[in-house]
Amino acid sequence: MHAATAPLTARRHGPLHGRVRVPGDKSISHRALILGALAVGETRISGLLEGEDVLNTAKVLRALGARVERCGQGEWHVRGVGVAGFAEPEAALDFGNSGTGCRLMLGAVAGCPITATFDGDASLRRRPMRRVLDPLERIGARLAAASDGRLPLTLAGAHDPIPIVFELPVPSAQLKSAVLLAGLSAPGETIIIEAEATRDHTEKMLAHFGADVRIEPIGEQGRRIALAGQPELSPQPIRVPADPSSAAFPLVAALITPGSEVILEGVMMNSLRTGLIATLLEMGAAIERLATRNEGGEEIADLRARGSALHGVAVPAARAPAMIDEYPVLAVAAAFAEGTTVMRGLKELRVKESDRLAATAALLRVNGVEADISGDDLFVRGKGHVPGGGLVATHMDHRIAMSALVMGLASEKPVAIDDASFIATSFPGFVELMRGLGADLS
Ligand code: S3P
Repeated sequence: MHAATAPLTARRHGPLHGRVRVPGDKSISHRALILGALAVGETRISGLLEGEDVLNTAKVLRALGARVERCGQGEWHVRGVGVAGFAEPEAALDFGNSGTGCRLMLGAVAGCPITATFDGDASLRRRPMRRVLDPLERIGARLAAASDGRLPLTLAGAHDPIPIVFELPVPSAQLKSAVLLAGLSAPGETIIIEAEATRDHTEKMLAHFGADVRIEPIGEQGRRIALAGQPELSPQPIRVPADPSSAAFPLVAALITPGSEVILEGVMMNSLRTGLIATLLEMGAAIERLATRNEGGEEIADLRARGSALHGVAVPAARAPAMIDEYPVLAVAAAFAEGTTVMRGLKELRVKESDRLAATAALLRVNGVEADISGDDLFVRGKGHVPGGGLVATHMDHRIAMSALVMGLASEKPVAIDDASFIATSFPGFVELMRGLGADLS
């Protein structure tokens, strides 16, 4: 169950200092549980993100017959049922706030001969599922009743799944992953074509578990992914690296608070996730990569961030897939920069946990920052300082909540948010971690 509404205020209070590790990557955590549940044998996971979104995926997998056990902090063991081996659940599957959990599991269930009802909270019930249902119906899954493509919905998985060739109509790793997970049950090759590469954690983890996945580049930014169906997935140990999308909050907080020096340990540096860091460096941010190493097939690094004088930049639309979740906090950095920052091609932000494009612009404006939306582009007119003093509506969106609080750590007047409770969906311990660096949150 989700906690009650919890208002919270951030106030300016000197520089931030310290060395911290943010929780495990959300994308990898969902996938580790799901692939563990589809493997034969026991998968051992360490560093799992114990946020509500991932805990909901764990519960759903139990309801489908996998054994999922917590053995210690971040230590989880999953005993899988094999590809296409899920059992029919007795009750509706509740994904809470999580689009990733829901969309990936729509794919995983679509390849099994079972029927299941998918549901979530008010935010998830507003988000589009049609984009996932279209290819899953081609694979052979059926909706039990007419649907407007929103939750709740009941899906009957395919009895004889068909391998498809699917060109992604939107750059979405959730959509790509749903089709790959359904394609596991089909004979022959499931092929995905993406015009712009999106995060590749599903492909990498499938290969790690022994599936035959071939990836070829197409043009400058695209990829063709071919998955050979009906593999036997063999469990592999997974160590979940720190989430770059969570590291983004203390990172930007350090940059905009003069005199700060913060080290973020073990952050995943997968190049399909580092668009924010590239952009901040262009803005003049003092970010250094220390101790780069490889862990579980991903490059990770400790990052040092210091208070920096930032300037506005133009962020190309082509970078959107590599920083899709980081635009709200980038907009906060842009508000403290000198000059205009333009972020192009933000259409997908409209269908996140909230309409994040509108919510980000509103967050800025209510705190005295000039921000305009033109088509799918966001313009932030930075003046080097932010008045603050606003009450931000978070719309059940964890990233809007954390971005607003980061802003309040460096603005002239405090910034309040209407509800901090959704932060626990992706970043449990955020408030304590930020306080440990010296932040005033109360
Ligand atoms: C995710 C993909 C992205 C991202 C989300 C996690 C994933 O969503 O916003 O937080 O784990 O695949 P889309 O695939 O809808 O862009």
